[in-house]
Amino acid sequence: MARATDNVDLRAPGRSAARVPAAPAPPAPATKGRIELAGVVKSYGTVTAVDHVDLAVPAGSYCCLLGPSGCGKTSTLRMIAGHEELSAGRISIDGHDVGGLTPADRPTAMMFQNYALFPHLNCRDNVAFSLRMRGVPKAERHEIAFGKLDLVHMGDYMERMPSQLSGGQ
Ligand SMILES: Nc1ncnc2c1ncn2[C@@H]1O[C@H](COP(=O)(O)OP(=O)(O)O)[C@@H](O)[C@H]1O
Ligand SMILES: [Mg+2]
Repeated sequence: MARATDNVDLRAPGRSAARVPAAPAPPAPATKGRIELAGVVKSYGTVTAVDHVDLAVPAGSYCCLLGPSGCGKTSTLRMIAGHEELSAGRISIDGHDVGGLTPADRPTAMMFQNYALFPHLNCRDNVAFSLRMRGVPKAERHEIAFGKLDLVHMGDYMERMPSQLSGGQ
């Protein structure tokens, strides 16, 4: 069997050899990021927001939680990311129980429905804030921030304050 690095010989009988580059090798399957929920419950006082959820999300896959408003999607995500304590059950990532870990110590990131921006900083300075905390010089962090904003077609808005943006922006 041809290896991915081989060129493919398209020679037909009586014709000269035509060689085309081999297709690039497919990316290696992700091995990290398997999430498992077992009997997960979240109660807020008398309200049961999440009622014994069992879920396994394979590494490298996309998973969407669909359901009507109030059915417990956000509570479930917040428990996975560590922003909410479980009332019962267990959540593991790559086989490790993450119950005792803070959000910062988990290999997760959460994008909030309502944006969490510093209201007194413009777009560029919001994006550059973590670089500022890490001591990256101003010119460099502004350039990096502009690159990120440009990537999501927000470059023209870098001087705008959060109050001057639409929800989607
Ligand atoms: N902090 C809270 N205190 C009390 N009840 C809450 C709290 N957060 C969410 N709930 C309730 O838990 C249920 C699930 O909420 P949520 O997880 O936000 O649902 P979804 O994201 O699917 O709309 C809802 O009935 C909601 O009112
Ligand atoms: Mg929600």
